[in-house]
Amino acid sequence: KIEKVWAREVLDSRGNPTVEAVVTVNGHEISAIAPSGASTGMYEAHELRDGGDRYKGKGVQKAVENVRTTVAKAIVGMDPTDQRAIDMAMVEADGTDNKKSIGGNATTAVSFAVANAGAFVSNQQLYEYIGKDHVTLPVPMFNIINGGKHAGGDLKVQECMIIPAGASSFSECLRMAAETYSSLKSILKSKYGVGAINVGDEGGFAPPVNTVSEALGTIVEAISDAGYEPGKDIYLGIDAASSEFFENGKYSVDGLSLSAGELVDHYRSIIDEFPLISIEDPFEENDYATTAELTKAVGNRVQIVGDDLFVTNSKRLADGIKKGAANALLLKVNQIGTVSEAQDACEMSADNGYNVVVSHRSGESEDTTIADLCVGWGTGQIKTGAPCRGERTAKYNRLLRIEDRLGSKAVFPGKKALRL
Ligand code: PGA
Ligand code: ZN
Repeated sequence: KIEKVWAREVLDSRGNPTVEAVVTVNGHEISAIAPSGASTGMYEAHELRDGGDRYKGKGVQKAVENVRTTVAKAIVGMDPTDQRAIDMAMVEADGTDNKKSIGGNATTAVSFAVANAGAFVSNQQLYEYIGKDHVTLPVPMFNIINGGKHAGGDLKVQECMIIPAGASSFSECLRMAAETYSSLKSILKSKYGVGAINVGDEGGFAPPVNTVSEALGTIVEAISDAGYEPGKDIYLGIDAASSEFFENGKYSVDGLSLSAGELVDHYRSIIDEFPLISIEDPFEENDYATTAELTKAVGNRVQIVGDDLFVTNSKRLADGIKKGAANALLLKVNQIGTVSEAQDACEMSADNGYNVVVSHRSGESEDTTIADLCVGWGTGQIKTGAPCRGERTAKYNRLLRIEDRLGSKAVFPGKKALRL
């Protein structure tokens, strides 16, 4: 039985307050922390912040108070292994369709803590407890050049990622990524000067590049310099996060002002030039039609990922599936607010042949719950930043530990994870 539910304010990786929830079971306190996005989708669960002067309006004392009162009242006494019933009790206590009253940050932290508490009372690791598969390690996407809202430069595309899908294990991916990251650091320094190796929110470099081609070209150089073959050992991915540069019907990107149709052609030329196998949010979050057009054109060789497009919401995902928009879901628990609702979106994706990429947020913490969800649900892919900065490496290091525990039972899907 859940004996007590508590919460407190702690800091995230950007130095902003966030909610840490504490669930007491068998006299043990199990805690978890909610992450926080910067380029948030308009359909995400509501992140409750206090406003006013304290923490420049970003305090989460109301969300914390909601956990201590409303949520505690709703779930104390419940069986911590009944994740779904607990999540649904929070949904009911909230009473809105986007967690507006309790706060999605409050429900996410509690839902994460309950999952960890359920594993604890079951005497299992979270990845073993949470799903049926729990032997598949993910192919990671490492965001090694940060742009958009995550950095201070002119690059509009938010994330330029490397995908070491040619590796034979997760740990090999991590090594290949760290070596490439180190090569990239030297190349950026000699090309643009020492200021180019400052890092953005997700640990990737933030060099003064203006176009995605310039960024990807430099990454390809770094891959080769590290001794790997681009397009065989290591592939590329981008998160355009295009809602952030969409205004008045036009996309301002790479020094151009493009219509949706012109942006399709722009992506196609980038795909022809580089070993690019994953594009996230290529069009603004309401444009299912053009996303479907791009998916139809290149979906057999490029994974098209819906992040702000689907916001881990089964209703929006169902709509996307019907229209053929994208072929993969980016799964962020705090976009919907509970583990169970995120699991619903995960299962709907799998049932309809969509890939699933479990994801961090740009504002993160030392919490590693998502690494376990990824292995437990067997999604085969994760994106959790560069192989740099503690809040990012916390997840990668957790995956190293899981891989080590699994030993010869560990399965690594390689490029098959992307079904290309
Ligand atoms: P966010 O960025 O956490 O700032 O939303 C991550 C992403 O867009 O994938
Ligand atoms: Zn995204």
